[in-house]
Amino acid sequence: MIASILPTYSRAPLTFVSGEGSWLTEADGRRFLDLGAGIAVNALGHAHPALVEALSGQANALWHVSNLYNIPAQQQLADALVDKTFADTVFFTNSGTEACELAIKMARKYWYDKEQPARTEIITFSGSFHGRSSAGIAAAGSEKMTKGFGPLLPGFTHLEFGDHDALQAAVSDTTAAIMVEPVQGEGGIRPLPDACLKGLRDLCDQHGILMILDEVQCGMGRTGKLFAHEWAGITPDIMMVAKGIGGGFPLGAVLATENAASGMTTGTHGSTYGGNPLACAVGAKVMEIVSDDAFLAEVNRKAGLMRQKLEGVVAAHSDVFEAVRGSGLMLGLKCKAANTDVVNAGFAEGVLTVPAADNVVRLLPALNIPDEDIGLAAQRLDAAASHVMGANA
Ligand SMILES: Cc1ncc(COP(=O)(O)O)c(C=O)c1O
Repeated sequence: MIASILPTYSRAPLTFVSGEGSWLTEADGRRFLDLGAGIAVNALGHAHPALVEALSGQANALWHVSNLYNIPAQQQLADALVDKTFADTVFFTNSGTEACELAIKMARKYWYDKEQPARTEIITFSGSFHGRSSAGIAAAGSEKMTKGFGPLLPGFTHLEFGDHDALQAAVSDTTAAIMVEPVQGEGGIRPLPDACLKGLRDLCDQHGILMILDEVQCGMGRTGKLFAHEWAGITPDIMMVAKGIGGGFPLGAVLATENAASGMTTGTHGSTYGGNPLACAVGAKVMEIVSDDAFLAEVNRKAGLMRQKLEGVVAAHSDVFEAVRGSGLMLGLKCKAANTDVVNAGFAEGVLTVPAADNVVRLLPALNIPDEDIGLAAQRLDAAASHVMGANA
C-alpha cells in the first residue's frame, strides 16, 4: 500500500520536534548539530529571536492579502534587495522552482518584445539543478530528473560544465539566455571559477544574451558575499533567489534589471502566495541581518575556521575523504567512501549533513553558527569518519 505521504523522498529515521540556533532536538530528546540547515534554508539557524518576532508580529496583524493590494513588508524587502544588488525590480515567489519558471519566461518575453521571437534557447550546464517543475527539469536536463516525464519543455541547450569550446559553438542568434549557478549545490558543491563567470558575462555582452544566475542555494550570504556573483565582480541580468531569503519561511524571488524585466508588464505573470505578508516580514528581517557588512565579515571568518577544521578532518581520514571544496559556508567533502555512509555515520554521532551528487557530503550550516559549534562539527565528523573506516575495514 502506498504511504500516505507520496514516497518521493527516502527519509532518515529521525523526527525533529524543536530547534534552536544550530541544534535540532529529536522526539526522543537527542540533540543534533545541524550542518544542513534545511538545505541552506535556515540561514540564521532555528528559532532566531528576531525572525520569531517578525513572524509573530505579522501573524498578529495580517496573514494574507492578495497582490491586488499593496503589501508593506513586500515593498520593504523589494526596496532592500534593489538597494543592495544589481537589480531594479523584484518579483516574489514561494520557492526556487517558481523563481526558475519566471526567470525563463522573462528571458523569452524579453526577446519576443524585441521582435526576435525565435530567440528562445537557454544554455544550461551539466550538474545543474533548477527545481523539479517541467521547466526546471528541462533546464537541468539530466536523465535522473527527466526520465519518464516527457515531453520536456523545449528550448534548452545542455553543455558540459567547463567546456569553453562547446560554449562558444553553442551560442547563436537563437540564444536568449545563459543560466548558471555560480556554485552548484545539488551538483556537488562545484564553484564556477570567477574567471569563468567573467567569461560568461563577456560572452553574453558580446552577443546581447541575457545572463540568468541561479543563486537559490549559493545566495543570501552563503558564500560570504550577499550574492555569490559579487566575488567575480560581475552582475547578471536576471537572478533567482530562494532558500536562505526566507530563513525557513517559504519565499523566493526573481531579481532583474529594468531592461531584462521590460517584457513583464501588467497581467503577464502572477502568484497567489508570492510575496505574502508573513513570508516578506520574515524575509525583510533576514535581509536586514544578512546584508550587513559586519555580518558578512563574520560569515567569512567562520568559513575560514570551518574550512581549516575540515582540512584537518580530511587529512586525518584520507581513506574516507578526498578534499574539501566550496565557497564560504557552502562546503563539500568530496568522498572516497560512499557519501551516504558518511551522512549515516553522522546521524550516530549527532551531526546532520546532506549528500550531493559527485559523491559529496554537503555542509551548509547556519551563517551565524557559533565558533564552538564549528569545533564540535569537526569533532563529530571526525568520529563519523572513524565509523566509516571501521565499518569498511
Ligand atoms: C540552485 C537551485 N535552484 C533551484 C532550486 C529549487 O528550489 P526549490 O526547492 O525551493 O523549489 C534549488 C533547490 O535545491 C537549488 O538548489
